[in-house]
Amino acid sequence: MTTTTLSVIGVGYLGAVHAASMAELGHEVIGLDIDAERVAALQAGIPPFHEPGFADILARGLATGRLRFTTDYADLAGAEVHFLGLGTPQRADGFGADLSHLETAVDALAEVLPSRSGAPTLVVGKSTVPAGTARLLRERLAHLDGVQLVWNPEFLREGFAVQDTLDPDRLVYGVHDPEDAAAEQAIEMLDGVYARILEKQPPRLVMGYEAAELVKTSANAFLATKISFINAVSEMCEVTGADVTDVARAVGMDDRIGAKFLRAGVGFGGGCLPKDLRAFIASAEEHGVGEALGFLREVDAINDRRRGRVVELARELLGDLHGRRVTVLGAAFKPDSDDVRDSPALDVATRLRAAGAEVTVTDPEGLENARPRMEELAELEPDLDTALQGAELTVLLTEWSQYRELDPARAAALVTAPRMIDGRNVLDPQHWRAAGWTLRSLGRADALPAPRPAATDQSGASEAVTGEAGAGEAWTGETRTGESRARPEGARASAARPAEPVPALV
Ligand code: UGA
Repeated sequence: MTTTTLSVIGVGYLGAVHAASMAELGHEVIGLDIDAERVAALQAGIPPFHEPGFADILARGLATGRLRFTTDYADLAGAEVHFLGLGTPQRADGFGADLSHLETAVDALAEVLPSRSGAPTLVVGKSTVPAGTARLLRERLAHLDGVQLVWNPEFLREGFAVQDTLDPDRLVYGVHDPEDAAAEQAIEMLDGVYARILEKQPPRLVMGYEAAELVKTSANAFLATKISFINAVSEMCEVTGADVTDVARAVGMDDRIGAKFLRAGVGFGGGCLPKDLRAFIASAEEHGVGEALGFLREVDAINDRRRGRVVELARELLGDLHGRRVTVLGAAFKPDSDDVRDSPALDVATRLRAAGAEVTVTDPEGLENARPRMEELAELEPDLDTALQGAELTVLLTEWSQYRELDPARAAALVTAPRMIDGRNVLDPQHWRAAGWTLRSLGRADALPAPRPAATDQSGASEAVTGEAGAGEAWTGETRTGESRARPEGARASAARPAEPVPALV
């Protein structure tokens, strides 16, 4: 394998992992970001986020001298290949993707590229972008000789980012014209960079720019749809008395469907799925085919409803939430990450607070990132036992292993009242009920049908489902197991007559 000198512009989650991974493959890498603090941290070997395995490859890259970081575009002038790892957040004025970071970076890069005149230079886009973006960015580089642009979307998952980068399940190369000789040269250069990855023979697919862009947006939109699909089924389970985990397990056994991303619960969040879904909708509308992807609005709405449903369940258990002490397990949008962008857990914590609850949030890694958004709204407590103390209701929203493996008897001794909402369907209901807990889940038979909300407050939480104050007071859960199967009758009645409230059993 030949060593290539390359740059990675934008060392956020994607870019930093990509830069360190490329150094791990043996390349000379310089990572650039306009955030001087982030650059200083990375240069000092301090990972700016929690990602298993990242600290090791960062340290190794720095120690070998193959990896360094800068804020100065001039330092990029000598590189043969430039990766674009910039963020494409949701625009403030709508659903569309904000491409300004990418555009600014490409213009700044174009300023330093002429110093390599004659030598072929490759620019490789990794960011998630709407179809048509690569072609527009290519025009911004068109005045430069020997510069080729390839769109090579990244499919890494947080929590598995290093593994997904070094051992991807496929590589997609988008080029302006797959038949063109210049494109062939660009493909060859990128193959050279990924030579060690290609030794493992992952599928490597070459296509046009727009197809490559659409592969990524469609993949994320499909994953979001799969989650919302099972969460919609979850709503049906709640009114029919079925258990969504039974349904998902059996449905997922069909190879054509598959079991992955069928975990029902409080739904998807993070820096990718929600905003990519919305950008896809906006892009379809801009292209005049908004109707084709209109169903994705419902995918988004189902996801939002699940968050509201947790607040409804809290009201069913506690009645009026004012002054009631609720502990939220989880701040990160998913386990093994400290990323709190569009975190379902923090959104629900905010809604619970808006409904008057005294909220404590705990998370093994996500509290520092949660602080700016949450410190006025909730107590942020890193220690799990301390966070549980005094809780009248505990709500599990991010399935960290320490929460999945929580001992119900020990936890019961810490809380004021053993009431739990399992927002991820990861706790064994029988085990928890046997330990004296009142357990409610999303989409499981034990989660009873809620009366249809008559009004919605500003936080999006239902106002109507208050029931008697302390509706859950009479029950501690120990007798509930046998009863949960006996509920479908009442549940069906409720589905048929939504206006008639069904008493909240727990
Ligand atoms: C997602 C995609 O999975 C990656 O393939 C993609 O590369 C990445 O976005 C990106 O565009 O950069 P990630 O944001 O790390 O990766 O998170 P996921 O593992 O997809 O999880 C997203 C959310 O869905 C989480 O909140 C998770 O809790 C939730 N989820 C996932 C469910 O609610 N149910 C499931 O069955 C699976």
